Amino acid sequence: MAQEVRGVIAPGKDQAVRIETIVVPDPGPGEAVVRIQACGVCHTDLHYKQGGISDDFPFLLGHEAAGVVESVGDGVTDVAPGDFVILNWRAVCGTCRACLRGRPWYCFDTHNARQKMTLTDGTELSPALGIGAFAEKTLVAAGQCTKVDPAVAPEVAGLLGCGVMAGIGAAINTGNVGRGDSVAVIGCGGVGDAAVAGSRLAGAAKIIAVDIDDRKLETARSMGATHTVNSRETDPVEAIRELTGGFGADVVIEAVGRPETYQQAFYARDLAGTVVLVGVPTPEMKLELPLLDVFGRGGSLKSSWYGDCLPSRDFPMLIDLHLQGRLDLAAFVTETIRLDEVEQAFERMHHGDVLRSVVVL
Ligand code: APR
Ligand code: ZN
Ligand code: ZN
Repeated sequence: MAQEVRGVIAPGKDQAVRIETIVVPDPGPGEAVVRIQACGVCHTDLHYKQGGISDDFPFLLGHEAAGVVESVGDGVTDVAPGDFVILNWRAVCGTCRACLRGRPWYCFDTHNARQKMTLTDGTELSPALGIGAFAEKTLVAAGQCTKVDPAVAPEVAGLLGCGVMAGIGAAINTGNVGRGDSVAVIGCGGVGDAAVAGSRLAGAAKIIAVDIDDRKLETARSMGATHTVNSRETDPVEAIRELTGGFGADVVIEAVGRPETYQQAFYARDLAGTVVLVGVPTPEMKLELPLLDVFGRGGSLKSSWYGDCLPSRDFPMLIDLHLQGRLDLAAFVTETIRLDEVEQAFERMHHGDVLRSVVVL
């Protein structure tokens, strides 16, 4: 029997979000219905609302979520009703070229639920990133559910579903930060701070946080930054070189998404160092570099999507490390809010006041 629950809808371009009754079908083959316990508010939800991602309104927003599996459809064996899970937006297919080559984090045939959730008048909803978790229940592909230790608080667990995983993964997966490395992180919002935390976890000796806002630098220090640079006052490339014996950092993680910070990241790395690009630029942005610098500096430039994570490998591991007190994921939760407070959370996000607002149901 399909069920009716409450969910947060973005009805049209730039319109305020509102709570509506949504219809969640029973899970079909390979699908699961999850009772959502917590879901973080991410910039991507705001971009959906603004019409910046697609015109496929109405959207059911929310995609950084944790909850309990309520029911599963035919053929689902990896999760069962009662399991505590984190949802992910990249359930890999296992059979595409990227998957077969052992690089499933580049999978290009990822799975979402086949059936549609609707409004009560039958209007089909587009779930944000194939999830739609600002809702009491949602329908996903079973592969979007990863079981983790239920001892973790749901509002903490859900964070791994997107931004925090993107930052931690940029350090430990894409950047391959290792014991003793020097790391610079440019841009210390939620994603950059997670890269700082990931670098600490990986054993980096020096973690240099760069931002234009002193409040952000203070938070980055609490996440593990050993040095901070306010790039409004100090040239960050020179500062990073100075702090690394004149060389530059082994790994530089860019978490802003602007030409000037891409350029800083490029020059702040050691010869043969790695630049990890996490910040998402807009289509018109360009970067101009002397080819001789590109050729002569060696090393690698890598972009990082979703922290090159593999949910089934990374989510349980990071939750275990959190429960052991070795990774403080709770530090990313600035506030918990109700389902009807998402619009205000977008406002606060816009002003840079929060790392994460998390809806708790
Ligand atoms: N130099 C250094 N830091 C900057 C600069 C700059 N020129 N401009 C902005 N910042 C800082 C801001 O002060 C803020 O602390 O970058 C940080 C950006 O943080 P958020 O806006 O909170 O964004 P976040 O969620 O961390 O995402 C960062 O990663 O995944 C991508 O799409 C995401 O492009 C975005 C980036
Ligand atoms: Zn695949
Ligand atoms: Zn997100």
